[in-house]
Amino acid sequence: MVSMYGLLAAGAMLLSMAVPIVAAEQSSNSLSYLEVPLGKYRLEHEEWLSFLRENMDPDFEYWRARAPLKSADILALHNKTLTRMYIPAVMQLVLIYNNKVYWPANPDMHRGEPNRTWSSWYNEMFHRRLVKALASGRLKLPNALFLYNTDDNAPRFQAPSTDPSVPMLSIIKSLGLQGGDDLDILVPQMFNVPNSLYTHPWHLKQDRAFFRGIGFCSNLWQKHYGFDDACARLYLSYLTIRDQELGNGTALDAALVEKYPFFESHPKKSVPFALPIQPRVEFGEHTRYKWLLHLEGITASNRLGQLFLANSVVLFQRSPYIEYFYRSLRPWQHYVPFWNATAADGTPLGMDDVYGTLAELRRLDREQPERLQEMVRHANNFAIKFLTPYARFRYYNAVLTNYRKLFPDHDAFLEQYVAGLRAKGWKID
Ligand SMILES: *[C@@H]1O[C@H](CO)[C@@H](O)[C@H](O)[C@H]1NC(C)=O
Ligand SMILES: *[C@@H]1O[C@H](CO)[C@@H](O)[C@H](O)[C@H]1NC(C)=O
Ligand SMILES: *[C@@H]1O[C@H](CO)[C@@H](O)[C@H](O)[C@H]1NC(C)=O
Ligand SMILES: *[C@@H]1O[C@H](CO)[C@@H](O)[C@H](O)[C@H]1NC(C)=O
Repeated sequence: MVSMYGLLAAGAMLLSMAVPIVAAEQSSNSLSYLEVPLGKYRLEHEEWLSFLRENMDPDFEYWRARAPLKSADILALHNKTLTRMYIPAVMQLVLIYNNKVYWPANPDMHRGEPNRTWSSWYNEMFHRRLVKALASGRLKLPNALFLYNTDDNAPRFQAPSTDPSVPMLSIIKSLGLQGGDDLDILVPQMFNVPNSLYTHPWHLKQDRAFFRGIGFCSNLWQKHYGFDDACARLYLSYLTIRDQELGNGTALDAALVEKYPFFESHPKKSVPFALPIQPRVEFGEHTRYKWLLHLEGITASNRLGQLFLANSVVLFQRSPYIEYFYRSLRPWQHYVPFWNATAADGTPLGMDDVYGTLAELRRLDREQPERLQEMVRHANNFAIKFLTPYARFRYYNAVLTNYRKLFPDHDAFLEQYVAGLRAKGWKID
């Protein structure tokens, strides 16, 4: 089958190499995927507590040792953070009061719902889902005021060197980077939260590793790999085309879906030409592939929770950035790691180590298929238990309950704070 990649002729600098590419595509079958909506999973209490012990407790350890904290410092941290970098859309105050949610930094006190003029998608979706869940009576949250950081957190707003006096609640942070682990308390992002399982029969799937996404890069890997543009999303998309041109595109199907900054003027490039842009592919269609690539964004990508809801094996790029649930994940139990890898004898491997990982997976698929199916089952089971909208709000409840305990003055502070807002004209029930 011959397919033509529509190259974006954007910018005269881009090398125009509009060559027809011989794709080694296996004929894709016409069966569509099955979507199975998920409900509320009845998790054993002990299993939930153990999930909190692995993920939430490590975030609280530092703060419990520093408690009692002062509630007024939450407002001071908001001011200090915005003074350092003015990003109010992703650095918002959230007030939970009598089981309702308010945004005290909303420029218009009479319009409760965040929108993109002053707030992030993450806040908008968090608000919509939370309002529904609170109104339904299924969810109760304790009163609290917190700084909600929905930035990708690449600037590391709570790195130990910032010596923060109170925690912010963030959707992403890093572990193990220079200067030590970030001190944020993680909470789930509520933006990309599917609530269905997607399946396609394993024996009908394509035997290639799939990715479609924006060309985000973390800028962490230049030194390690010796390229100015060292980045998994770019390089794997390049390898896909390189192999197709050589007539052996049998391993990868990775591509970018938006124009990205091509590192034209950089002397040490790993990607020699501007990559073509491909259409987006809806998530259910990802199940047509046995192997799904989970690649870093600017920091952590919120896609992992989604990939765990397909009956495919997740190939996970090693990365220091985490979301709230990563610390319960185990390599070769929930996913297969690659990138920043070393050979058995300790020699560092290159940015193309994914080929070796795939070869091993294919061997297992032939010789011990149940090993792979067990991994898929583990990943799916994990998502059903801990990554649904219900589980995510349950996690918020646990975090807020513990967060309040850090501030013995919190209730008294909130009474004053709410009185102050009401005096300014805010309607607070
Ligand atoms: C921080 O507080 C100072 C002093 O009250 C104020 O002048 C400044 O505008 C505040 N900055 C932000 C970003 O809120
Ligand atoms: C967006 O939010 C601002 C501030 O709350 C409000 O004034 C504005 O009307 C909102 N815009 C839309 C389109 O809802
Ligand atoms: C395709 O061929 C190139 C050049 O020999 C090689 O580097 C690459 O690993 C091959 N790809 C696959 C999927 O075999
Ligand atoms: C790459 O892996 C090594 C361990 O092999 C680790 O020490 C290092 O921190 C990793 N690099 C990044 C940027 O995570």
